[in-house]
Amino acid sequence: MDKKELAEKINKLKKEKNAIILAHCYQNIEIDLVADFVGDSLGLSQLAAKTNADKIIFAGVYFMAETAKILNPAKKVYLPNISGCDMADMINLEQIRDFKAKNPNIPTVCYINSTAAVKSECDICCTSSNAVEVVKSLNSSEVLFVPDKYLASWVEKNLPNVKITAYQGYCPTHFKISANDILTKKKENPNAIVLSHPECRNEVVELSDFVGSTTQMMAYCKKSSEKEFIVATELGVVQRLQRDYPDKKIIPISKEIFCPSMKENTLEDILYTLENENNEITVDDEVAKKAINCIDRMLKI
Ligand code: 13P
Ligand code: SF4
Repeated sequence: MDKKELAEKINKLKKEKNAIILAHCYQNIEIDLVADFVGDSLGLSQLAAKTNADKIIFAGVYFMAETAKILNPAKKVYLPNISGCDMADMINLEQIRDFKAKNPNIPTVCYINSTAAVKSECDICCTSSNAVEVVKSLNSSEVLFVPDKYLASWVEKNLPNVKITAYQGYCPTHFKISANDILTKKKENPNAIVLSHPECRNEVVELSDFVGSTTQMMAYCKKSSEKEFIVATELGVVQRLQRDYPDKKIIPISKEIFCPSMKENTLEDILYTLENENNEITVDDEVAKKAINCIDRMLKI
């Protein structure tokens, strides 16, 4: 079957089964042919919380499907490939407990890129699009932040009066982007605007004109009258921008900046999951009960 035939089959079957397909914008671009929504982690969790569909097929990574299940436990949630986020896997239950014990009585913020077990130990969750607002909402002069040390730095840069003690996790995909990459691209394209994700290293953020989540970067590019953009994030965003704005020059850092876990899903996998209902994601009741407070508190902001 070619991609068009596969997409037709998936779109028909998802209607019959009252399923929706939620996709992160780092997914293979072909997934957009069948996705009901393509977006960033915040948009995806908001949609997962309110969908009326019976089944959610999550084209993303494990923590996203887990978050959807916690937010909407009556729904069946499936992950076509069981692939985790390398950053989320840098901290487990024991490590978060240890981190908190070493820094007692300080509110703890966790990036949504964390497991449900880690969320269950934290006060509030955030995404890359609302991390600054979330930390600000705590009205605390000191905060613990897990697991992304670079997102923590971005928040600290925006809220200089808050002392942030960060767990030393990071995204291996965004870590590959260096200041030198930006300077090289800037030399080749001196008029280009630099867009970067806050998971990037500080040296990259320092050289950026705009820093935001995947969806925020895409929205910036859409509304900007500028014509050239250097895009410092995963390839999926670059490809979608190139597709959606053919009149603009969208400059990737390199084809090597892709997240292997995000790229696992194909249309064939999605069809298989819709047909066979494999890889259903479940979350332990006790863990879910605690983790939902942390996610809900964010969604209310
Ligand atoms: P956003 O979806 O918040 O842009 O974060 C990117 C990411 O790494 C998701 O895993
Ligand atoms: Fe995790 Fe990085 Fe992949 Fe996002 S890009 S899912 S943070 S490993």
